[in-house]
Amino acid sequence: MTIGQTVFLNGAFRPVGEATISPFDRGFLFAHAAYEVTAVYDGKFIDLERHLSRLRRTLDGIAIPNLYSDEAWAEIHTDLIDKNGVEEGLVYLEVTGGAYGLRDFAGPEIFEPTVFLYADARPLIGDVARDGIKAIFLEDSRWKRRDMKTVQLLSQALAYRAAREAGADTAFMVEDGYVTEAASANAWIVDTAGRLITRELSHSILPGITRAGVMDLLKGSGIELVERAFTPDEVRGAAEAISTSAGAMVAPVVMIDGQPVGDGKPGPVTRRIQRLYYEAMGVDVAVVAPWALG
Ligand code: PDD
Repeated sequence: MTIGQTVFLNGAFRPVGEATISPFDRGFLFAHAAYEVTAVYDGKFIDLERHLSRLRRTLDGIAIPNLYSDEAWAEIHTDLIDKNGVEEGLVYLEVTGGAYGLRDFAGPEIFEPTVFLYADARPLIGDVARDGIKAIFLEDSRWKRRDMKTVQLLSQALAYRAAREAGADTAFMVEDGYVTEAASANAWIVDTAGRLITRELSHSILPGITRAGVMDLLKGSGIELVERAFTPDEVRGAAEAISTSAGAMVAPVVMIDGQPVGDGKPGPVTRRIQRLYYEAMGVDVAVVAPWALG
């Protein structure tokens, strides 16, 4: 990953070294902030409209005004990748409740947001997509409004640390006996009958943009989709497991708690979904991801 040296902060593009915010910022003090991570491939954003629509929902849910129209947000995104020469990678966006020079839980009636974006150049389709990742199960200790994309990421940061300590890459988080989602991705399994299963939308999980994109592509694919919660035992007995996010796109999950999922290799349904997703992105699959061709 290469962080672009020009960032956007509060209305202007600046060198990253000159981009500073107040220690009284509500994002810092209270994690009072929304964020989005949008993928860029071949200089084009993937599903930016959907990310901006989710941003609007999150901001509305946490009482922060949205300073820009979708068109203005899109222009900022485009200018940011142009200024940093990013053709492939991610754009991170964060909008906080701003700073008032004091620590006040409720804050003013109307917030004056802090707006920050940076670009990160990195290959989106690499070893993770080809070989898969390892996960552990972990109790989901997050707050109850996971449908809003806020920066309260301490549970997830600790989940990644626990995964690393266990020799894994991520965690499938579990609540009341059911998997909610992965630490920073939506979770899916393929059962032994070939059905693709992912948890239905609710306050318990983030409505992933990659999840929605995959679902669009499944129409007419012949792959049967079931939206319901599944248990850790179902993951252990599954033929395949997958996680989806803007960062890793469609990632095979090949081990869980040290045991192989299925035969421990990315399975045929995963490969099919990867191929559909990459083709929709405009990827030359034969060149970039020949392993997805099956
Ligand atoms: N995370 N669930 C959680 C908890 C997430 O944090 C994410 C994304 C997703 C997938 O959403 P999407 O398909 O819209 O990226 C699901 C981002 C990439 C992150 O925190 O870096």
